[in-house]
Amino acid sequence: MIGGTVGEVVESKHPKFAAGDKVVGMGGWQQYAVVDGNMLGMLRKVDTTHVPLSAYLGAVGMPGVTARYGPVKLCAPKAGETVVVSAASGAVGGAVGQLAKVRGCRVVGIAGGTEKCRYVVDELGFDACVDYKQHKDAKSLDAALAEAAPNGIDCNFENVGGEILNAVLRRMNAFGRMALCGMISGYEGQPIPLANPALILTQRLRLEGFIVSEHMEVWPEALKELGTLAATGKLKYRETIAPTIEDAPEAFLGLLKGRNFGKQLVKLI
Ligand SMILES: NC(=O)c1ccc[n+]([C@@H]2O[C@H](COP(=O)([O-])OP(=O)(O)OC[C@H]3O[C@@H](n4cnc5c(N)ncnc54)[C@H](OP(=O)(O)O)[C@@H]3O)[C@@H](O)[C@H]2O)c1
Repeated sequence: MIGGTVGEVVESKHPKFAAGDKVVGMGGWQQYAVVDGNMLGMLRKVDTTHVPLSAYLGAVGMPGVTARYGPVKLCAPKAGETVVVSAASGAVGGAVGQLAKVRGCRVVGIAGGTEKCRYVVDELGFDACVDYKQHKDAKSLDAALAEAAPNGIDCNFENVGGEILNAVLRRMNAFGRMALCGMISGYEGQPIPLANPALILTQRLRLEGFIVSEHMEVWPEALKELGTLAATGKLKYRETIAPTIEDAPEAFLGLLKGRNFGKQLVKLI
């Protein structure tokens, strides 16, 4: 299985890497990996003086860069605008909200459960959080979102799709922007119909999907900001660590059920 990993160089024939270096790369679901240090995006040396190694798989790694792509490149929210992000307690969602707060926005999260919502507001500093599990029908979800985003929504960072996206779409302001990052509610093959696409027209919305690995040009500046914020305690995150490689499949399935809290990691060694 492919996958991002962090670890330590055991042996190297590459002049830029030496045994003992801490690295992040595409090592896969295995305890040891042979990696071509010349291949773009395959291996990067990291500094663990102020940022723990595991964070390079989360807030200061691919999920963090993904999170930053929405607010910075797609939505470009102005201070005072309202940003809504789903899967808000997760690796990507948690960083989206904090990066939008740094840019002066009102930030609303959508997450499953009281504990996750409390964390999003109390620890990550979001302005409000809607617990979608407490609002199972569209009317109730609409009312909760209206209370959390009284001025409507200017920027949406979508991680979930389905009923959550439908509710957000109903509250989008004219000329709003929607960054489509993930549709996790459909990852097990469920249909996730868009209830009212006419709103895209009537509200003159801009929707754009993106795949972060296709935008390698943004990684250096993103990692710089994320690293600085994490090292100074301004970018907070949580991790759920599965204890062994045997637990990896169950941990992966757990993501689709919301059993993880923050970045799901697997301890390989
Ligand atoms: N476009 C890209 O380049 C890119 C890159 C990385 C990740 N992504 C996407 O970004 C999203 C977040 O990824 P992540 O790694 O940060 O994961 P995560 O948010 O840490 O974990 C996934 C979360 O999604 C929520 N979820 C799962 N199934 C759901 C459902 N049926 N309905 C509502 N919520 C559900 C759960 O949170 P609750 O308990 O709150 O429901 C779960 O904890 C995913 O959709 C992923 O595919 C996209």
